[in-house]
Amino acid sequence: MRLRRLLPSAAALAVLTACGGGGGGGGGGGGGDGVHGTPGAAGVRDPYFPKAGNGGYDVTHYGLHLAYDPARHHLSGTATITARATRDLSALNLDLAGLRVERVTVKGRTASWKRAGQELTVRPHDDLADGTTFRVTVRYSGAPRTVTDPDGSQEGWLRTADGALALGEPTGSMAWFPGNHHPCDKAAYDLRVTVPEGLEAVSNGELTGRRTERGRTTFTWHTAEPMASYLATVAIGRYALTRTTTDGGLPVHTAVDPGQAEASRAVLARIPEVLAWAEENFGPYPFSSAGAIVDRPGDAGYALETQSRPFFPGAPDIVLLVHELAHQWYGDSVTPRTWRDMWLNEGFATYAEWLWQEDHGGDTAQETFDALYAGAGDGIWAFPPARPTSAAHISDPPVYQRGAMVLHEIRRTVGDDAFRAIVRGWAAAHRHGNASTADFTAYVEEQAPDEDFDRVWRDWLYGEGKPRRR
Ligand code: TRP
Ligand code: ZN
Repeated sequence: MRLRRLLPSAAALAVLTACGGGGGGGGGGGGGDGVHGTPGAAGVRDPYFPKAGNGGYDVTHYGLHLAYDPARHHLSGTATITARATRDLSALNLDLAGLRVERVTVKGRTASWKRAGQELTVRPHDDLADGTTFRVTVRYSGAPRTVTDPDGSQEGWLRTADGALALGEPTGSMAWFPGNHHPCDKAAYDLRVTVPEGLEAVSNGELTGRRTERGRTTFTWHTAEPMASYLATVAIGRYALTRTTTDGGLPVHTAVDPGQAEASRAVLARIPEVLAWAEENFGPYPFSSAGAIVDRPGDAGYALETQSRPFFPGAPDIVLLVHELAHQWYGDSVTPRTWRDMWLNEGFATYAEWLWQEDHGGDTAQETFDALYAGAGDGIWAFPPARPTSAAHISDPPVYQRGAMVLHEIRRTVGDDAFRAIVRGWAAAHRHGNASTADFTAYVEEQAPDEDFDRVWRDWLYGEGKPRRR
């Protein structure tokens, strides 16, 4: 089946909210004084995480003021959320797991709230009119929790030997701040975090302030480019810090647990080299700074592409560094519309590994593909990359390796030059936005109108079982 459709212009993309589909399109207000809204939805109908995110508004900015004391394992925070109503609202939901809510305001007035599971329902004093921008503040505190994913891995607020680390894929960010926790609602962030003197606090983006007073140090970090909340992080503890700039002037910050510093030094020194290679292949780096965080949380043994500052649970090898840096384009800048589109993250980041190896004297992507085709266990064929069988399987081999195989099949169909243009053009077309699998197949078909992709989509992307070779 060939779908042809026009891509919206960049300007239209900027005003579209990617969380559409969560219910009616406003309209009701009736003009005049009183707005009579209805409650916003408690989820955005994600096929795998139905409670994730919320309908009726679009967050533009998170201002998070946090204080954390590792010795007491106590977090206190005020989240100031700036959002635009996308319908007339009498109430709206935020996602928050655990913690105690102390006060909520909307437009400066005290608001009532109630909690049920991860849903924090806020009822403003006055209804909010479609299209208006409003500010919600939530004051909260308590012992932040670790969240167990459907696949059994740990995320949320993870304790380390000397501090803590926040990891949010897919739903862990609700363990440390209230928000619209679905990847479709990206926003800018300013984070201010106060920790005991002697500890560092590292987050996404750029450090804009650091000040010690009465035994506590406050760090402020700024992220201007849209960020999905699962990519937000804060790392608190003792770290060896480095700060350099690439030849192109991009700041690179690394923060490494002292016990990992020696093992990490040489590989992290290659960040500028990897970024230069990635820019050649994928186009301009999408953010204002780069770097890495290396630490040892007791609970998490995986790396994560936290925006501008990927996290590693120990010194990475060069290929894992390539993977997480490739995610800055594919995942962080071009973000999946729902968790079902996860292969757009992991298939691309895995294919970046193959390309790196091909360009650096290792196996060609074709050899990697052939070896997988011949030798991978059955796990890789368990389900089609674009249709994981459940939330517990969104980071399984079909999403990563078979996802990369989809890209390789596209490359074989269009040839090397057209393929490079597609990979790069895809990052440009949805820079700082969201995109779905259907957006991707439509984009590929538009870029190569004379080729036939039916087999690639039918067998490799959506097909059950091991596709037949051609
Ligand atoms: N995205 C991470 C990576 O590829 C892996 C990962 C960590 C993950 N946590 C997850 C994938 C939760 C899916 C769900 O480096
Ligand atoms: Zn990945």
